[in-house]
Amino acid sequence: MGSALMQVLNVDLGDRSYPIYIGSGLMAQAEMFARHIGGRQVCIVTDDTVAPLYLESLQQVLSDYKVTSVVLPTGEAYKNWATLQQIFDALLAERHDRRTTLIALGGGVIGDMTGFAASAYQRGVDFIQVPTTLLSQVDSSVGGKTGINHPAGKNMIGAFYQPKAVIIDTDSLKTLPGREVSAGLAEIIKYGLIRDEAFLGWLERNMVGLRQLDTTLVTEAIMRSCAIKAEVVAADEREGGVRAILNLGHTFGHAIEAHQGYGSWLHGEAVGAGMVMALDLSERLGWISDVDRKRGESVIAAAGLPVRAPAGMRASDFERLMAVDKKVLDGQLRLVLLRRIGDAEVTADYDVLALRECLQDSEQ
Ligand code: NAD
Ligand code: GLY
Repeated sequence: MGSALMQVLNVDLGDRSYPIYIGSGLMAQAEMFARHIGGRQVCIVTDDTVAPLYLESLQQVLSDYKVTSVVLPTGEAYKNWATLQQIFDALLAERHDRRTTLIALGGGVIGDMTGFAASAYQRGVDFIQVPTTLLSQVDSSVGGKTGINHPAGKNMIGAFYQPKAVIIDTDSLKTLPGREVSAGLAEIIKYGLIRDEAFLGWLERNMVGLRQLDTTLVTEAIMRSCAIKAEVVAADEREGGVRAILNLGHTFGHAIEAHQGYGSWLHGEAVGAGMVMALDLSERLGWISDVDRKRGESVIAAAGLPVRAPAGMRASDFERLMAVDKKVLDGQLRLVLLRRIGDAEVTADYDVLALRECLQDSEQ
């Protein structure tokens, strides 16, 4: 049972704890799924890019169950109510009961929408994450944030709802386009910047191999990223405090995504440029040195990510869109900034003029 090369981490959340399995060939292991499926029905949710690659083989692996498959249109632009409704339509049409298990097969868009559907269908059914992008393997599949976008703001409608297991099959990355690999590296770099300077150094040394998807390096990067995420989520599941540091660069990045139209800039690309803006503001406030800002910017650039906001995006666009960020409390925007590399803080106590200058200097 299990692969000799499989590694397991645990997300420690009391009776909502669950394992993260990481390894090669895991999607083919029926017993791994069986451990976490309670009833006789499963519903695989995927998109029309991933379906031709992995759906049929997963259906076969799960052939002991009554399997329904839902193939949604691909992409961030479809992370909305209308697409979500298609999941509920299929569940009801196929008479799925409260013991059904939803399986999210795909990237973060599929994972977030499937998790949200699981949180709401018949007031909550089980779900399993099978992330197939680097970004979803290191970030979105872990921690239970689920939801959809609203035209006025990213991920504005959703729920905290934990999966029963996360099954990361590193083989799925072989079909991932290079642009998506870079997007995943943005979230990996984030962990180094907010929590682990030694990991950032390791990323700097190994960036070429990571971009080429060297199996040993990528597996190590997934392990270290998931370990940091699991630790932060266990400390603060519902983001009352420390979990907010996982959003380094995201307030700027979400504004970029909404401004450009969901799907135009990849989430990871927007986070890349957004982290450079967060580094810039951290330096303006005297929190980090010029050397550290440049170090962060260099590793983001080396990952193949944008380090500038989109051409034509004005400071006023950022201000308008950042005002609906989920970190706004009592009308005050809180930002994740760096005290130093490896040490992040969420704060509303920053000089608004420094933020204004940061936004104005981002204009091009
Ligand atoms: P995505 O789900 O859009 O996937 C990216 C692209 O890769 C899609 O075109 C998809 O069809 C394709 N794809 C997926 N797996 C593939 C494979 N193995 N081979 C070839 N193509 C494949 O995007 P993403 O980058 O995975 O996730 C981004 C989303 O995740 C955003 O909506 C973001 O808000 C969300 N997110 C959520 C959290 C969270 O904590 N819940 C954290 C970070 C990001
Ligand atoms: N990606 C941010 C979080 O999970 O909290």
